[in-house]
Amino acid sequence: MSLTQPQNPPSGTAPKITASSLLLKKQSGQPITALTAYDYSTARFIDEAGIDVILVGDSLGMTVLGYENTLPVTMEEMLHHAHAVGRGARSAFLVGDMPYGSYHASISRATENALRFIKEAGMAAIKIEGGASRASLVEHLTSSEVAVVGHIGLTPQSLHRMGGYKVQGISAVSMETLLSDALSLEAAGAVALVLEGMPRELAARITRVLKIPTIGIGAGPDCDGQILVFHDLFNLTFSPPAKFVRRYADASQLFRDGIARYREDVCARTFPSDSESYHLPGEVKKATEDQPELAKA
Ligand code: KIV
Repeated sequence: MSLTQPQNPPSGTAPKITASSLLLKKQSGQPITALTAYDYSTARFIDEAGIDVILVGDSLGMTVLGYENTLPVTMEEMLHHAHAVGRGARSAFLVGDMPYGSYHASISRATENALRFIKEAGMAAIKIEGGASRASLVEHLTSSEVAVVGHIGLTPQSLHRMGGYKVQGISAVSMETLLSDALSLEAAGAVALVLEGMPRELAARITRVLKIPTIGIGAGPDCDGQILVFHDLFNLTFSPPAKFVRRYADASQLFRDGIARYREDVCARTFPSDSESYHLPGEVKKATEDQPELAKA
């Protein structure tokens, strides 16, 4: 049996964030806060800090699974992490990211996968990447009682089609295409849109035109809300950050220092100390000291 302390269950009385609360935030001009999380403890920290939305992003393929990009991530991997996040969060609006391939083959396959996020992992919504071409899927999911968050602009699952991670919507034509993508997704029933990697001016225009909230990442400050990848926030990555990332702490240095000190202590036999060790009760100790062969047994 492990002697690790069990986690105190999450508690708290903060109200549950819903798609309607996010809409109200947009309508009343209050910023929406969002972060990614992939595990129980991170979700709990984020939730307890009062962040509105937790996205179990397929970015976990890179941040925690070590893939080169998001394309290999499977439904099973997403559900495994979504379950853990669900156990840690009480109030935040939980969004499960549909991985590449889980919604591309057919509407019925996509619906089955989306329902798994809701039924098995307790997510409140799912997110899919793509514009007008996803409108019929969004409509079908919405009519199946699934809340859908759209994602347009730089969509990482389109890596090969885009020819790399490139800012989108930088020509007059592509601006109009993205605006019409946004309107199609809204008309199809999406409850919010992630706007990623696009000029500030375009994100501002989409945000003004849409009734549903926009949540930006690399899309400037005029979106209704902002999302960042948790590992980017804390420098828990192994490559230089994108232009839009703000580092709020250097957890990687903290980890490296702590791990190095632990290693030194173990090698020097200064960890664990006597006060970090369990001891025999006094009478047992005395009895075993009187019978040295028992102490050895
Ligand atoms: O997977 C993810 O983390 C995302 C965010 C970048 C929006 O899709």
